[in-house]
Amino acid sequence: MARQIIRIDVKAAKADIAKLKVDVAAVGIFSDVKNNAFIDALDKKLDGAITRLKKIGDFKGMAGSSVFLYTHGKIAAERLLLIGLGEKQKATADTIRQAAAKAAFEAVNVKAKSLAVFLHNEIAKIDFEKLGQVLAEGVHFGGYRYDEFVTQQENGRSSFLSALIVDDNMSNVRKLNNGIKVGQIIGRAQNFARTLANRPGNILYPSEFAAIAKKVAASVPHLGCTILDEKKLAQKKMGGILAVGAGSIHKPRMIILKYTPPGKKTGKDEPIALVGKAITFDSGGVSLKPAQDMHEMKMDMTGGAAVLMTMEVIARLKLPLEVYGIICAAENKPGGSSYLPGDIITTYSGKTVEVLNTDAEGRLVLCDGLHQAKLLKCKTVIDIATLTGACVVALGKHKAGLVSNNEKLMEKLKKAANESGEPLWQLPYEPEYIEEIKGKIADLKNIGSKWGGACTAAAFLGEFVQSVTWAHLDIAPKMDASEPMKKYAQDGSIGFGVRLLSNFLMNFSAKG
Ligand code: BES
Ligand code: MN
Ligand code: ZN
Repeated sequence: MARQIIRIDVKAAKADIAKLKVDVAAVGIFSDVKNNAFIDALDKKLDGAITRLKKIGDFKGMAGSSVFLYTHGKIAAERLLLIGLGEKQKATADTIRQAAAKAAFEAVNVKAKSLAVFLHNEIAKIDFEKLGQVLAEGVHFGGYRYDEFVTQQENGRSSFLSALIVDDNMSNVRKLNNGIKVGQIIGRAQNFARTLANRPGNILYPSEFAAIAKKVAASVPHLGCTILDEKKLAQKKMGGILAVGAGSIHKPRMIILKYTPPGKKTGKDEPIALVGKAITFDSGGVSLKPAQDMHEMKMDMTGGAAVLMTMEVIARLKLPLEVYGIICAAENKPGGSSYLPGDIITTYSGKTVEVLNTDAEGRLVLCDGLHQAKLLKCKTVIDIATLTGACVVALGKHKAGLVSNNEKLMEKLKKAANESGEPLWQLPYEPEYIEEIKGKIADLKNIGSKWGGACTAAAFLGEFVQSVTWAHLDIAPKMDASEPMKKYAQDGSIGFGVRLLSNFLMNFSAKG
Protein backbone atom coordinates (compact mmCIF):
# COMPACT_ATOMS: atom_id res chain seq x y z
CA MET A 1 0.00 0.00 0.00
CA ALA A 2 1.36 3.31 -1.05
CA ARG A 3 -0.06 5.77 1.33
CA GLN A 4 -0.94 5.80 4.99
CA ILE A 5 -4.58 6.62 5.67
CA ILE A 6 -4.84 10.16 7.10
CA ARG A 7 -4.19 10.35 10.84
CA ILE A 8 -6.76 12.44 12.68
CA ASP A 9 -6.51 13.75 16.21
CA VAL A 10 -9.10 15.72 18.16
CA LYS A 11 -8.90 17.51 21.49
CA ALA A 12 -10.57 20.40 23.28
CA ALA A 13 -8.91 23.46 24.79
CA LYS A 14 -9.80 26.78 26.34
CA ALA A 15 -9.02 29.30 23.65
CA ASP A 16 -10.23 32.24 21.61
CA ILE A 17 -10.64 30.90 18.09
CA ALA A 18 -9.73 34.29 16.58
CA LYS A 19 -6.27 34.02 18.13
CA LEU A 20 -5.40 30.51 16.95
CA LYS A 21 -2.82 30.25 14.16
CA VAL A 22 -4.47 27.36 12.31
CA ASP A 23 -4.96 26.57 8.63
CA VAL A 24 -8.72 26.61 9.04
CA ALA A 25 -10.93 28.03 11.80
CA ALA A 26 -14.51 26.76 11.50
CA VAL A 27 -17.47 28.41 13.22
CA GLY A 28 -21.13 27.45 13.20
CA ILE A 29 -23.93 29.89 12.31
CA PHE A 30 -27.67 29.33 12.67
CA SER A 31 -29.88 30.51 9.82
CA ASP A 32 -32.36 32.18 12.18
CA VAL A 33 -30.15 33.73 14.86
CA LYS A 34 -29.81 37.43 14.10
CA ASN A 35 -27.55 38.62 16.87
CA ASN A 36 -24.89 36.53 18.46
CA ALA A 37 -22.16 38.21 20.49
CA PHE A 38 -19.43 35.82 19.37
CA ILE A 39 -20.23 36.02 15.65
CA ASP A 40 -20.71 39.80 15.84
CA ALA A 41 -17.28 40.22 17.44
CA LEU A 42 -15.71 38.03 14.77
CA ASP A 43 -17.52 39.97 12.06
CA LYS A 44 -16.16 43.19 13.47
CA LYS A 45 -12.59 41.88 13.37
CA LEU A 46 -13.19 40.98 9.72
CA ASP A 47 -14.52 44.46 8.90
CA GLY A 48 -18.06 43.15 8.42
CA ALA A 49 -17.21 40.36 5.96
CA ILE A 50 -19.76 37.95 7.48
CA THR A 51 -22.54 40.53 7.35
CA ARG A 52 -21.65 41.27 3.72
CA LEU A 53 -21.75 37.59 2.77
CA LYS A 54 -25.19 37.29 4.30
CA LYS A 55 -26.35 40.47 2.57
CA ILE A 56 -25.35 39.36 -0.92
CA GLY A 57 -26.94 35.97 -0.17
CA ASP A 58 -23.88 33.74 -0.53
CA PHE A 59 -24.25 32.32 2.94
CA LYS A 60 -27.43 32.12 4.98
CA GLY A 61 -26.52 29.54 7.60
CA MET A 62 -28.58 26.78 6.00
CA ALA A 63 -27.78 23.30 7.28
CA GLY A 64 -25.19 21.62 5.06
CA SER A 65 -23.88 24.86 3.57
CA SER A 66 -20.46 26.35 4.14
CA VAL A 67 -18.23 29.10 2.79
CA PHE A 68 -14.56 29.99 3.11
CA LEU A 69 -13.46 33.50 4.00
CA TYR A 70 -9.80 34.48 3.54
CA THR A 71 -8.84 36.47 6.58
CA HIS A 72 -5.80 38.48 5.36
CA GLY A 73 -4.37 38.51 8.86
CA LYS A 74 -7.43 40.09 10.47
CA ILE A 75 -7.67 37.01 12.67
CA ALA A 76 -4.83 34.53 13.31
CA ALA A 77 -6.22 31.73 11.10
CA GLU A 78 -5.48 31.77 7.36
CA ARG A 79 -9.06 30.80 6.49
CA LEU A 80 -12.35 31.15 8.28
CA LEU A 81 -14.91 28.52 7.40
CA LEU A 82 -18.53 29.40 8.12
CA ILE A 83 -20.68 26.33 8.63
CA GLY A 84 -24.45 26.56 8.38
CA LEU A 85 -26.33 24.91 11.25
CA GLY A 86 -29.89 25.57 10.02
CA GLU A 87 -32.67 26.59 12.38
CA LYS A 88 -31.69 26.72 16.02
CA GLN A 89 -34.76 24.88 17.34
CA LYS A 90 -34.20 21.98 14.93
CA ALA A 91 -30.54 21.44 15.85
CA THR A 92 -29.71 18.03 17.29
CA ALA A 93 -26.51 16.26 18.24
CA ASP A 94 -26.40 15.00 14.67
CA THR A 95 -26.52 18.58 13.34
CA ILE A 96 -23.31 19.22 15.27
CA ARG A 97 -21.78 15.92 14.15
CA GLN A 98 -22.50 16.75 10.51
CA ALA A 99 -21.19 20.29 10.92
CA ALA A 100 -17.94 18.95 12.38
CA ALA A 101 -17.72 16.48 9.49
CA LYS A 102 -18.22 19.32 7.03
CA ALA A 103 -15.48 21.35 8.73
CA ALA A 104 -12.99 18.48 8.53
CA PHE A 105 -14.04 17.56 4.99
CA GLU A 106 -13.41 21.09 3.72
CA ALA A 107 -10.21 21.40 5.76
CA VAL A 108 -8.74 18.27 4.16
CA ASN A 109 -9.85 19.54 0.74
CA VAL A 110 -7.64 22.61 1.18
CA LYS A 111 -4.84 20.38 2.47
CA ALA A 112 -5.01 21.77 5.99
CA LYS A 113 -2.97 20.29 8.81
CA SER A 114 -4.66 22.16 11.61
CA LEU A 115 -8.29 22.94 12.25
CA ALA A 116 -9.95 24.84 15.06
CA VAL A 117 -13.65 24.32 15.58
CA PHE A 118 -16.32 26.25 17.42
CA LEU A 119 -19.65 24.81 16.37
CA HIS A 120 -21.49 24.43 19.65
CA ASN A 121 -22.11 28.14 20.22
CA GLU A 122 -25.66 28.60 21.62
CA ILE A 123 -26.29 24.85 21.84
CA ALA A 124 -27.87 24.57 25.26
CA LYS A 125 -29.81 21.34 25.17
CA ILE A 126 -26.94 18.88 24.61
CA ASP A 127 -24.52 18.14 27.44
CA PHE A 128 -20.85 18.83 26.85
CA GLU A 129 -19.73 15.20 27.03
CA LYS A 130 -22.16 14.26 24.29
CA LEU A 131 -21.06 17.32 22.33
CA GLY A 132 -17.42 16.24 22.62
CA GLN A 133 -18.35 12.77 21.39
CA VAL A 134 -20.29 13.93 18.33
CA LEU A 135 -17.75 16.63 17.45
CA ALA A 136 -14.95 14.06 17.47
CA GLU A 137 -17.03 11.53 15.53
CA GLY A 138 -17.81 14.21 12.97
CA VAL A 139 -14.23 15.39 12.52
CA HIS A 140 -13.10 11.80 11.97
CA PHE A 141 -15.94 11.13 9.58
CA GLY A 142 -15.42 14.17 7.38
CA GLY A 143 -11.62 14.13 7.46
CA TYR A 144 -11.39 10.55 6.22
CA ARG A 145 -9.97 9.84 2.77
CA TYR A 146 -9.41 6.47 1.16
CA ASP A 147 -6.29 6.77 -0.99
CA GLU A 148 -3.98 4.04 0.27
CA PHE A 149 -3.27 2.80 -3.26
CA VAL A 150 -2.53 6.12 -4.89
CA THR A 151 1.19 6.18 -5.77
CA GLN A 152 1.84 8.41 -8.78
CA GLN A 153 -0.48 11.27 -8.50
CA GLU A 154 0.46 13.63 -5.71
CA ASN A 155 -2.77 14.69 -4.08
CA GLY A 156 -0.88 16.95 -1.71
CA ARG A 157 -3.00 16.22 1.31
CA SER A 158 -1.40 16.30 4.70
CA SER A 159 -0.64 12.98 6.37
CA PHE A 160 -2.51 14.21 9.43
CA LEU A 161 -5.22 16.56 10.59
CA SER A 162 -5.20 17.86 14.12
CA ALA A 163 -8.42 19.42 15.26
CA LEU A 164 -8.96 21.59 18.29
CA ILE A 165 -12.44 22.07 19.71
CA VAL A 166 -12.50 25.42 21.48
CA ASP A 167 -14.56 26.73 24.35
CA ASP A 168 -13.97 29.62 26.71
CA ASN A 169 -14.93 27.76 29.87
CA MET A 170 -12.51 25.32 31.49
CA SER A 171 -15.19 23.10 33.02
CA ASN A 172 -16.84 22.76 29.58
CA VAL A 173 -13.45 21.91 28.09
CA ARG A 174 -12.99 19.12 30.61
CA LYS A 175 -16.37 17.64 29.75
CA LEU A 176 -15.74 18.04 26.04
CA ASN A 177 -12.47 16.15 26.41
CA ASN A 178 -14.20 13.27 28.19
CA GLY A 179 -16.64 12.96 25.32
CA ILE A 180 -13.90 13.36 22.74
CA LYS A 181 -12.16 10.28 24.16
CA VAL A 182 -15.25 8.22 23.34
CA GLY A 183 -15.89 9.94 20.01
CA GLN A 184 -12.32 9.44 18.94
CA ILE A 185 -12.46 5.70 19.65
CA ILE A 186 -15.71 5.39 17.71
CA GLY A 187 -14.58 7.70 14.90
CA ARG A 188 -11.31 5.85 14.33
CA ALA A 189 -13.08 2.49 14.43
CA GLN A 190 -15.66 3.68 11.92
CA ASN A 191 -12.96 4.95 9.58
CA PHE A 192 -11.12 1.64 9.72
CA ALA A 193 -14.40 -0.11 8.90
CA ARG A 194 -14.57 2.19 5.85
CA THR A 195 -11.05 1.27 4.85
CA LEU A 196 -11.88 -2.43 5.07
CA ALA A 197 -15.02 -1.94 2.98
CA ASN A 198 -13.20 0.23 0.45
CA ARG A 199 -10.43 -2.35 -0.01
CA PRO A 200 -11.04 -4.29 -3.22
CA GLY A 201 -11.70 -8.00 -3.45
CA ASN A 202 -8.19 -8.85 -4.61
CA ILE A 203 -6.76 -7.30 -1.44
CA LEU A 204 -9.39 -8.13 1.16
CA TYR A 205 -10.66 -11.70 0.92
CA PRO A 206 -11.91 -13.94 3.75
CA SER A 207 -8.55 -15.18 5.10
CA GLU A 208 -7.16 -11.65 4.98
CA PHE A 209 -10.24 -10.34 6.83
CA ALA A 210 -9.63 -13.04 9.43
CA ALA A 211 -5.96 -12.07 9.79
CA ILE A 212 -6.96 -8.43 10.30
CA ALA A 213 -9.59 -9.46 12.86
CA LYS A 214 -6.88 -11.35 14.78
CA LYS A 215 -4.70 -8.23 14.80
CA VAL A 216 -7.55 -5.96 15.90
CA ALA A 217 -8.43 -8.37 18.71
CA ALA A 218 -4.80 -8.58 19.84
CA SER A 219 -4.57 -4.79 20.02
CA VAL A 220 -7.15 -4.45 22.81
CA PRO A 221 -7.58 -6.20 26.15
CA HIS A 222 -10.22 -8.86 26.86
CA LEU A 223 -11.06 -9.46 23.21
CA GLY A 224 -10.55 -13.01 21.99
CA CYS A 225 -10.67 -14.16 18.38
CA THR A 226 -11.18 -17.65 16.98
CA ILE A 227 -11.02 -18.34 13.26
CA LEU A 228 -12.84 -21.24 11.68
CA ASP A 229 -11.14 -22.05 8.38
CA GLU A 230 -12.70 -24.15 5.62
CA LYS A 231 -11.67 -27.41 7.28
CA LYS A 232 -13.25 -26.44 10.59
CA LEU A 233 -16.35 -25.20 8.80
CA ALA A 234 -16.61 -28.60 7.10
CA GLN A 235 -16.10 -30.49 10.38
CA LYS A 236 -18.91 -28.47 11.93
CA LYS A 237 -21.10 -28.96 8.85
CA MET A 238 -21.64 -25.28 8.23
CA GLY A 239 -23.24 -25.96 4.87
CA GLY A 240 -24.46 -22.42 4.21
CA ILE A 241 -21.21 -20.50 4.38
CA LEU A 242 -19.36 -23.39 2.69
CA ALA A 243 -21.75 -23.42 -0.27
CA VAL A 244 -21.43 -19.67 -0.83
CA GLY A 245 -17.64 -19.81 -0.66
CA ALA A 246 -17.25 -22.94 -2.78
CA GLY A 247 -16.63 -21.20 -6.12
CA SER A 248 -13.63 -19.15 -5.02
CA ILE A 249 -9.97 -19.98 -4.44
CA HIS A 250 -10.34 -17.67 -1.44
CA LYS A 251 -11.97 -20.03 1.02
CA PRO A 252 -14.55 -18.86 3.56
CA ARG A 253 -13.88 -18.09 7.21
CA MET A 254 -16.07 -17.67 10.24
CA ILE A 255 -14.55 -15.22 12.67
CA ILE A 256 -15.73 -15.47 16.27
CA LEU A 257 -14.76 -12.62 18.55
CA LYS A 258 -15.53 -12.69 22.23
CA TYR A 259 -15.39 -9.72 24.56
CA THR A 260 -15.42 -10.67 28.25
CA PRO A 261 -15.23 -7.77 30.68
CA PRO A 262 -13.28 -8.83 33.76
CA GLY A 263 -15.13 -9.54 37.01
CA LYS A 264 -18.70 -9.16 35.82
CA LYS A 265 -21.64 -11.51 36.04
CA THR A 266 -23.49 -12.22 32.84
CA GLY A 267 -26.70 -10.15 32.67
CA LYS A 268 -30.04 -11.75 31.82
CA ASP A 269 -30.06 -10.41 28.26
CA GLU A 270 -26.46 -11.48 27.69
CA PRO A 271 -24.38 -12.65 26.00
CA ILE A 272 -25.23 -10.37 23.12
CA ALA A 273 -24.26 -11.50 19.64
CA LEU A 274 -23.49 -9.24 16.70
CA VAL A 275 -23.55 -11.26 13.49
CA GLY A 276 -22.10 -9.64 10.37
CA LYS A 277 -22.29 -10.46 6.68
CA ALA A 278 -18.83 -10.23 5.16
CA ILE A 279 -19.05 -11.16 1.50
CA THR A 280 -15.69 -9.78 0.43
CA PHE A 281 -16.95 -9.72 -3.14
CA ASP A 282 -20.45 -10.53 -4.35
CA SER A 283 -20.46 -11.28 -8.07
CA GLY A 284 -23.80 -13.03 -7.64
CA GLY A 285 -22.12 -16.38 -8.27
CA VAL A 286 -23.58 -18.52 -11.06
CA SER A 287 -26.68 -16.28 -10.93
CA LEU A 288 -24.27 -13.58 -12.05
CA LYS A 289 -25.00 -9.90 -11.44
CA PRO A 290 -25.04 -7.41 -14.34
CA ALA A 291 -21.64 -5.75 -14.95
CA GLN A 292 -22.95 -2.26 -14.21
CA ASP A 293 -21.88 -1.24 -10.69
CA MET A 294 -20.73 -4.78 -9.86
CA HIS A 295 -17.45 -3.39 -8.50
CA GLU A 296 -19.41 -1.83 -5.65
CA MET A 297 -19.96 -5.33 -4.33
CA LYS A 298 -16.48 -5.19 -2.81
CA MET A 299 -18.37 -3.40 -0.04
CA ASP A 300 -20.66 -6.36 0.60
CA MET A 301 -18.64 -7.02 3.76
CA THR A 302 -19.77 -3.76 5.39
CA GLY A 303 -21.82 -5.58 8.06
CA GLY A 304 -18.83 -7.72 9.01
CA ALA A 305 -16.59 -4.66 9.20
CA ALA A 306 -19.13 -2.95 11.47
CA VAL A 307 -19.16 -5.97 13.79
CA LEU A 308 -15.36 -6.18 13.97
CA MET A 309 -14.89 -2.50 14.69
CA THR A 310 -17.76 -2.31 17.18
CA MET A 311 -16.08 -5.13 19.09
CA GLU A 312 -12.92 -3.05 19.17
CA VAL A 313 -14.87 -0.02 20.41
CA ILE A 314 -16.53 -1.85 23.30
CA ALA A 315 -13.22 -3.39 24.37
CA ARG A 316 -11.54 0.03 24.33
CA LEU A 317 -14.46 1.55 26.26
CA LYS A 318 -14.36 -1.43 28.65
CA LEU A 319 -18.14 -1.78 28.57
CA PRO A 320 -19.48 -4.15 31.23
CA LEU A 321 -21.22 -6.46 28.76
CA GLU A 322 -20.54 -9.92 27.45
CA VAL A 323 -20.58 -9.73 23.65
CA TYR A 324 -19.80 -12.06 20.79
CA GLY A 325 -18.97 -10.82 17.31
CA ILE A 326 -19.58 -13.41 14.63
CA ILE A 327 -18.41 -12.55 11.12
CA CYS A 328 -19.33 -14.73 8.17
CA ALA A 329 -16.72 -14.13 5.49
CA ALA A 330 -16.89 -15.62 2.00
CA GLU A 331 -16.41 -14.64 -1.61
CA ASN A 332 -19.41 -15.30 -3.88
CA LYS A 333 -18.01 -16.26 -7.25
CA PRO A 334 -18.87 -18.47 -10.21
CA GLY A 335 -16.34 -21.23 -10.81
CA GLY A 336 -15.86 -24.94 -11.40
CA SER A 337 -16.77 -25.76 -7.84
CA SER A 338 -19.51 -23.17 -7.30
CA TYR A 339 -22.81 -23.97 -5.73
CA LEU A 340 -25.64 -23.94 -8.23
CA PRO A 341 -29.23 -22.81 -8.57
CA GLY A 342 -31.32 -25.82 -7.60
CA ASP A 343 -28.78 -27.15 -5.13
CA ILE A 344 -30.14 -28.27 -1.79
CA ILE A 345 -27.79 -27.49 1.06
CA THR A 346 -27.87 -28.51 4.70
CA THR A 347 -27.13 -25.55 6.95
CA TYR A 348 -25.35 -25.66 10.33
CA SER A 349 -28.74 -25.78 12.03
CA GLY A 350 -29.69 -28.94 10.13
CA LYS A 351 -32.38 -27.09 8.18
CA THR A 352 -32.20 -27.71 4.45
CA VAL A 353 -32.43 -24.92 1.87
CA GLU A 354 -33.14 -25.07 -1.84
CA VAL A 355 -30.94 -22.49 -3.56
CA LEU A 356 -33.02 -20.76 -6.20
CA ASN A 357 -30.62 -17.88 -6.74
CA THR A 358 -26.94 -17.93 -5.82
CA ASP A 359 -27.05 -14.13 -5.54
CA ALA A 360 -29.19 -14.44 -2.42
CA GLU A 361 -26.02 -15.55 -0.63
CA GLY A 362 -26.00 -13.25 2.38
CA ARG A 363 -28.77 -15.14 4.15
CA LEU A 364 -26.94 -18.42 3.49
CA VAL A 365 -23.79 -17.32 5.30
CA LEU A 366 -25.74 -15.54 8.04
CA CYS A 367 -27.94 -18.54 8.86
CA ASP A 368 -24.83 -20.42 9.97
CA GLY A 369 -23.62 -17.41 11.95
CA LEU A 370 -27.01 -17.04 13.65
CA HIS A 371 -27.03 -20.73 14.55
CA GLN A 372 -23.54 -20.30 15.98
CA ALA A 373 -24.88 -17.47 18.18
CA LYS A 374 -27.64 -19.79 19.35
CA LEU A 375 -25.16 -22.53 20.25
CA LEU A 376 -23.18 -19.94 22.21
CA LYS A 377 -26.40 -19.33 24.20
CA CYS A 378 -26.65 -15.68 23.20
CA LYS A 379 -29.81 -14.06 24.59
CA THR A 380 -29.86 -11.02 22.29
CA VAL A 381 -28.85 -11.41 18.67
CA ILE A 382 -28.42 -8.61 16.14
CA ASP A 383 -27.36 -9.28 12.60
CA ILE A 384 -26.12 -6.58 10.25
CA ALA A 385 -25.86 -7.09 6.51
CA THR A 386 -25.93 -5.40 3.11
CA LEU A 387 -28.62 -7.95 2.42
CA THR A 388 -31.01 -6.80 -0.31
CA GLY A 389 -31.35 -4.40 -3.20
CA ALA A 390 -35.05 -4.53 -2.35
CA CYS A 391 -34.33 -2.68 0.88
CA VAL A 392 -32.78 0.14 -1.16
CA VAL A 393 -35.90 0.18 -3.35
CA ALA A 394 -38.12 0.34 -0.26
CA LEU A 395 -36.27 3.04 1.69
CA GLY A 396 -34.07 4.84 -0.78
CA LYS A 397 -30.52 5.47 0.36
CA HIS A 398 -31.63 7.45 3.41
CA LYS A 399 -32.30 4.79 6.02
CA ALA A 400 -31.35 1.20 6.78
CA GLY A 401 -34.05 -1.43 7.35
CA LEU A 402 -34.87 -2.85 10.77
CA VAL A 403 -36.74 -6.12 11.31
CA SER A 404 -37.17 -7.73 14.69
CA ASN A 405 -39.19 -10.16 16.77
CA ASN A 406 -38.94 -8.01 19.90
CA GLU A 407 -40.47 -4.57 20.53
CA LYS A 408 -38.13 -3.62 23.36
CA LEU A 409 -35.04 -4.42 21.36
CA MET A 410 -36.42 -2.40 18.46
CA GLU A 411 -37.01 0.61 20.70
CA LYS A 412 -33.43 0.43 21.93
CA LEU A 413 -32.11 0.22 18.40
CA LYS A 414 -34.27 3.12 17.23
CA LYS A 415 -33.00 5.22 20.13
CA ALA A 416 -29.38 4.37 19.28
CA ALA A 417 -30.11 5.15 15.62
CA ASN A 418 -31.35 8.62 16.53
CA GLU A 419 -28.42 9.33 18.80
CA SER A 420 -25.81 8.05 16.39
CA GLY A 421 -27.22 9.70 13.28
CA GLU A 422 -27.36 6.28 11.60
CA PRO A 423 -31.08 6.05 10.85
CA LEU A 424 -33.19 2.90 10.84
CA TRP A 425 -36.72 2.29 9.60
CA GLN A 426 -38.84 -0.64 10.69
CA LEU A 427 -40.06 -3.20 8.14
CA PRO A 428 -42.60 -5.96 8.87
CA TYR A 429 -41.88 -9.38 10.33
CA GLU A 430 -45.15 -11.24 9.76
CA PRO A 431 -46.30 -14.80 8.97
CA GLU A 432 -47.09 -14.11 5.29
CA TYR A 433 -43.44 -13.29 4.60
CA ILE A 434 -42.30 -16.43 6.39
CA GLU A 435 -44.73 -18.45 4.22
CA GLU A 436 -42.97 -17.16 1.10
CA ILE A 437 -39.64 -18.73 1.97
CA LYS A 438 -41.02 -22.11 3.09
CA GLY A 439 -39.75 -24.82 0.70
CA LYS A 440 -41.40 -27.62 -1.22
CA ILE A 441 -38.50 -29.97 -1.78
CA ALA A 442 -36.42 -28.64 1.13
CA ASP A 443 -37.31 -26.95 4.44
CA LEU A 444 -36.73 -23.48 3.04
CA LYS A 445 -35.90 -21.77 -0.22
CA ASN A 446 -33.48 -18.91 -0.38
CA ILE A 447 -35.75 -16.42 -2.18
CA GLY A 448 -39.40 -15.40 -1.89
CA SER A 449 -41.65 -13.96 -4.58
CA LYS A 450 -40.80 -10.98 -6.76
CA TRP A 451 -41.95 -8.41 -4.21
CA GLY A 452 -40.98 -7.45 -0.69
CA GLY A 453 -37.49 -8.89 -0.95
CA ALA A 454 -36.16 -7.10 2.13
CA CYS A 455 -38.95 -8.62 4.25
CA THR A 456 -38.67 -12.16 2.90
CA ALA A 457 -34.88 -12.09 3.34
CA ALA A 458 -35.38 -11.07 6.98
CA ALA A 459 -38.05 -13.75 7.40
CA PHE A 460 -35.54 -16.33 6.17
CA LEU A 461 -33.05 -15.26 8.84
CA GLY A 462 -35.77 -15.37 11.48
CA GLU A 463 -36.13 -19.12 10.92
CA PHE A 464 -32.66 -19.60 12.39
CA VAL A 465 -33.21 -17.64 15.61
CA GLN A 466 -36.85 -18.50 16.34
CA SER A 467 -37.65 -17.47 19.92
CA VAL A 468 -34.32 -15.79 20.68
CA THR A 469 -34.60 -12.00 20.96
CA TRP A 470 -33.36 -10.86 17.57
CA ALA A 471 -33.07 -7.88 15.27
CA HIS A 472 -31.89 -7.69 11.71
CA LEU A 473 -30.36 -4.57 10.16
CA ASP A 474 -30.43 -4.47 6.37
CA ILE A 475 -27.82 -1.83 5.66
CA ALA A 476 -27.75 -2.19 1.86
CA PRO A 477 -29.20 1.37 1.59
CA LYS A 478 -26.26 2.73 3.59
CA MET A 479 -23.46 0.75 1.97
CA ASP A 480 -21.89 3.88 0.54
CA ALA A 481 -22.09 7.67 0.66
CA SER A 482 -25.07 9.21 -1.12
CA GLU A 483 -26.66 12.66 -1.24
CA PRO A 484 -26.85 14.73 0.92
CA MET A 485 -24.02 13.07 2.84
CA LYS A 486 -21.62 13.57 -0.07
CA LYS A 487 -21.33 17.19 1.03
CA TYR A 488 -19.10 15.96 3.85
CA ALA A 489 -18.11 12.39 3.00
CA GLN A 490 -15.85 10.95 0.36
CA ASP A 491 -17.45 8.52 -2.10
CA GLY A 492 -17.31 4.90 -1.00
CA SER A 493 -17.98 3.26 2.34
CA ILE A 494 -19.35 5.24 5.27
CA GLY A 495 -18.67 2.48 7.81
CA PHE A 496 -22.35 2.36 8.65
CA GLY A 497 -23.24 0.54 11.83
CA VAL A 498 -20.19 1.26 13.99
CA ARG A 499 -21.72 4.36 15.59
CA LEU A 500 -25.15 2.76 15.81
CA LEU A 501 -24.03 -0.50 17.44
CA SER A 502 -21.53 1.24 19.71
CA ASN A 503 -24.23 3.62 20.96
CA PHE A 504 -26.66 0.76 21.37
CA LEU A 505 -24.19 -1.19 23.51
CA MET A 506 -23.18 1.90 25.52
CA ASN A 507 -26.86 2.46 26.39
CA PHE A 508 -27.36 -1.24 27.06
CA SER A 509 -24.53 -1.30 29.59
CA ALA A 510 -25.56 1.98 31.20
CA LYS A 511 -28.91 0.45 32.10
CA GLY A 512 -27.27 -2.64 33.62
N1 BES B 1 -25.32 -7.88 -1.65
C1 BES B 1 -26.54 -7.94 -2.35
C2 BES B 1 -27.52 -6.84 -1.96
C3 BES B 1 -27.14 -5.42 -2.26
C4 BES B 1 -27.60 -4.79 -3.40
C5 BES B 1 -26.39 -4.69 -1.37
C6 BES B 1 -27.29 -3.48 -3.65
C7 BES B 1 -26.08 -3.36 -1.62
C8 BES B 1 -26.54 -2.75 -2.76
C9 BES B 1 -27.23 -9.28 -2.09
O1 BES B 1 -26.40 -10.36 -1.87
C10 BES B 1 -28.05 -9.61 -3.30
O2 BES B 1 -27.48 -9.81 -4.32
N2 BES B 1 -29.37 -9.65 -3.12
C11 BES B 1 -30.24 -9.94 -4.19
C12 BES B 1 -31.28 -10.90 -3.68
C13 BES B 1 -32.15 -11.48 -4.75
C14 BES B 1 -31.37 -12.41 -5.63
C15 BES B 1 -33.29 -12.21 -4.09
C16 BES B 1 -30.88 -8.63 -4.63
O3 BES B 1 -31.11 -7.77 -3.78
O4 BES B 1 -31.08 -8.45 -5.82
MN1 MN C 1 -25.87 -11.29 -3.72
ZN1 ZN D 1 -24.51 -9.90 -1.19
